[in-house]
Amino acid sequence: MTSNLDQQKTPQEAVAATLKRLEGAFALAIVFAGRHDLMVGARRGSPLAVGYGEGEMYLGSDAIALAPLTSRICYLEEGDWVELTGEGAVVHDTADTVVQREVRQTAHSGALIGKGQYRHFMQKEIFEQPAVIGDTLHAHIHPALWTVELPDLPFDLAALPRITISACGTAYYAGMVAKYWFEQIARQPVELDIASEFRYREAPLPEGGIGLFISQSGETADTLAALRYAKAQGQKVLSVVNVPESTIARESDAVLRTLAGPEIGVASTKAFTTQLTVLACLAIAAARARGAIDHDREAELSAALVEVPARAAEVLNHDEAIEAISHELAEARDVLYLGRGSTYPLALEGALKLKEISYIHAEGYAAGEMKHGPIALIDEMVPVIVCAPSGPLFDKTASNVQEVIARGGRVIFISDKRGIARLGEQAAYTIEIPEVDPFVAPLLYAIPVQLLAYHTAVIKGTDVDQPRNLAKAVTVE
Ligand code: G6P
Repeated sequence: MTSNLDQQKTPQEAVAATLKRLEGAFALAIVFAGRHDLMVGARRGSPLAVGYGEGEMYLGSDAIALAPLTSRICYLEEGDWVELTGEGAVVHDTADTVVQREVRQTAHSGALIGKGQYRHFMQKEIFEQPAVIGDTLHAHIHPALWTVELPDLPFDLAALPRITISACGTAYYAGMVAKYWFEQIARQPVELDIASEFRYREAPLPEGGIGLFISQSGETADTLAALRYAKAQGQKVLSVVNVPESTIARESDAVLRTLAGPEIGVASTKAFTTQLTVLACLAIAAARARGAIDHDREAELSAALVEVPARAAEVLNHDEAIEAISHELAEARDVLYLGRGSTYPLALEGALKLKEISYIHAEGYAAGEMKHGPIALIDEMVPVIVCAPSGPLFDKTASNVQEVIARGGRVIFISDKRGIARLGEQAAYTIEIPEVDPFVAPLLYAIPVQLLAYHTAVIKGTDVDQPRNLAKAVTVE
């Protein structure tokens, strides 16, 4: 802090006065020369948490950052500042009034946050998916009745004129899959937008509608701003978050939790598939409430979901084969991903994963859109990764794949036994996924695209868990 603080009475008063002159978003930890017993924290726009230790106190961005040190956490509210000494914390609000903020016991422990037997957090998190999808299902599906059970929601799922979904990055692609599900299964109108666009679009939102916000961290600045916009427009706010103490969770009318556990790798993996799990349950609940499915169909869809952890474990068994394919990807300058229907967002997510961690240019496209542009890129130097579960849309995608092959494209074909029997011989490589109800296919097709990106990045020698220029939680615009 600058010397003009010295003119103030105490360091705390000096900080309080200085904070009032600051603009923009910040989370600060301030130490004072000669005062080893004092630290002051302050937040506005960015998250900041106080950790309670034995005779010592900590500041950190969230429970995960503090997990190796303590599990007793207090989240500061917007505009708060806090004085920390060895004895404890005194929190002040924006008006400098002393306030009480709840101190919670978090579930995160330092041990949980290690890499275990894995080389990278991302690899560990990919392999945790059968377990965390199972945990998330367990919280939302009745094991004997095959019905979806959600916490009480402060709105009627049967009577929503529209659901407006908004999120960023991988969470946005989870929202895109959900849009297919809500529309197809529940006949529920949905609008979807990237949070950084939605917040400035000034979209009119219908009376009685809800905003649905998806975020692993619950702190993404654009998603939070989109949430506040929806609230100001009279929407009830539902969020799907992985961090229950986060700002997005706290500002929502209702929260559905993903039980992914701490996700450390910057590139999101298990948060994505657990977001899909929760959203699939929500889509089933909406379908039931709107009378779009009967009890038998609900049981069928729930059973398909309950099967996912076991099928996901089977997909993970292809790890070595996927690693072998990744050597070819690591040589590529550009990679194309294609999908159709609810696996189209998987093509986008696959391309995002590859870009994020291997720094190879990749694009995801709706398979049917290929002839409107990207087909011009196809030659033997551009690998084309196709997600094509057998089902009603398979034939359409198959003809797109044949167009690629006819132009010399090298196809990495991700499909099930039936799909591979139809087209596998013409592909350069195949990855076989268990045949499942098309409803749950996005959950399984997420895994091979994650593994392809992971192994390609490892082969290229990039910093897999902390790729350049990227952050785990983007708390600025
Ligand atoms: C960053 C992360 C991504 C994540 C996105 C949204 O870009 O690197 O992995 O998908 O933010 O984060 P959220 O915490 O809102 O899901």
